[in-house]
Amino acid sequence: MTIGILKETQQGETRVAISPQIAKQLIGKDFKIIVEEDAGTTSSFKDSDYEEIGAHIEKRGVVFKESDVLLKINPFDEEDVKLIDKSHVLISQLFHKSNPDLMKAIAATGASAFSLDAMPRISRAQDMDVLSSQSNLAGYKSVIRGAYEMTKIFPLMMTAAGTITPARVLVYGVGVAGLQAIATAKRLGAIVEATDIRPETKEQTESLGAKFIEVENDGEEEASVYAKVASEEYMQKQKEAVNKSLFKADLVITTAMVPGRMSPVLITKEQVNQMKNGAVIIDLAAAQGGNCELSRMDEIVVQNGVRIIGTTISPESVSTNASELFGKNLYNFIMHLTEDGKFKWELDEEITDSTLIIQNGTIRKNGKTITT
Ligand code: NAI
Repeated sequence: MTIGILKETQQGETRVAISPQIAKQLIGKDFKIIVEEDAGTTSSFKDSDYEEIGAHIEKRGVVFKESDVLLKINPFDEEDVKLIDKSHVLISQLFHKSNPDLMKAIAATGASAFSLDAMPRISRAQDMDVLSSQSNLAGYKSVIRGAYEMTKIFPLMMTAAGTITPARVLVYGVGVAGLQAIATAKRLGAIVEATDIRPETKEQTESLGAKFIEVENDGEEEASVYAKVASEEYMQKQKEAVNKSLFKADLVITTAMVPGRMSPVLITKEQVNQMKNGAVIIDLAAAQGGNCELSRMDEIVVQNGVRIIGTTISPESVSTNASELFGKNLYNFIMHLTEDGKFKWELDEEITDSTLIIQNGTIRKNGKTITT
């Protein structure tokens, strides 16, 4: 089977779906790999790096023509669709729910398409979960961005000129990004505290050496993978529990999200007005409205001497590692979907059923045909 790796065309994208190291692993499993010219350049992988491990470099049209499977990070676009035919199996993040027209256009080619963002959140799918591998890096980078914006350093430092006290970091939301932010800030020597609505995150926070700020929870949130929407009462109790730490914090990282909803507002303007002069808030939930009332996506808002940075901290800013991890997720997914180099369409299996969005030109939903 021939796998084609396409160069990303989306504005600002610097990653590539498969790194040379992962391409080598696929070749080791008897797949033929064709890479579009310059596909890895912005992730620091040269065409010659791919050639050295046995992949072929070709122009875009040839990659489409000679590949059975086409890999991308971002959704296939209109230009791609012109080159797709019914022999192709596409794998990328399709964000199919927000892209119905694109799904129809792909279906019209007769091709099949898997969407990585539809991966179920079950433990055996963990090593194929691109949202998770990429938000892990965002969590790391949010602390580095915070360090860059702060006017203080993280660790306790004893010098001949005096002692520097460690910075205080507060993390809202202990999901994938939040956990990595806690771990990174701890490694840099900060005093770290965190809070989350899901009770099981207490143990995860403490295992990283950080302090968990508990909010009295009247059973509204039982242990579950995803957070539910918090009640007004919970939000009030959360403010009371966290305010003391918030007003002492030098860096606040907010990652609290509820899938499919606007991000909950956890820090109001009134709270910002009581924070320390020079504190920094990195709001990773800004794309969905933000966890701080004052956040604006891709902007730095200054209020009461506090710098509020609304960002998604895109994995593109660490494109080499982001591509390596994305590629490993894809490798695991391809291994899951194939046997002896051929696709096995096990539609009664949860991972295949959830991610196969278009099968031979038919748009599926939960295993049922909804339109063609
Ligand atoms: P997310 O990005 O949806 O949300 C981040 C965090 O914010 C979550 O921990 C959530 O509980 C918290 N949050 C939401 N509303 C809040 C509020 N009002 N106050 C305080 N905290 C609030 O979360 P993410 O990173 O997607 O992870 C969610 C869970 O899914 C984690 O337990 C993670 O380990 C798990 N997961 C499991 C996978 C698998 O089994 N294949 C793959 C990826 C994640």
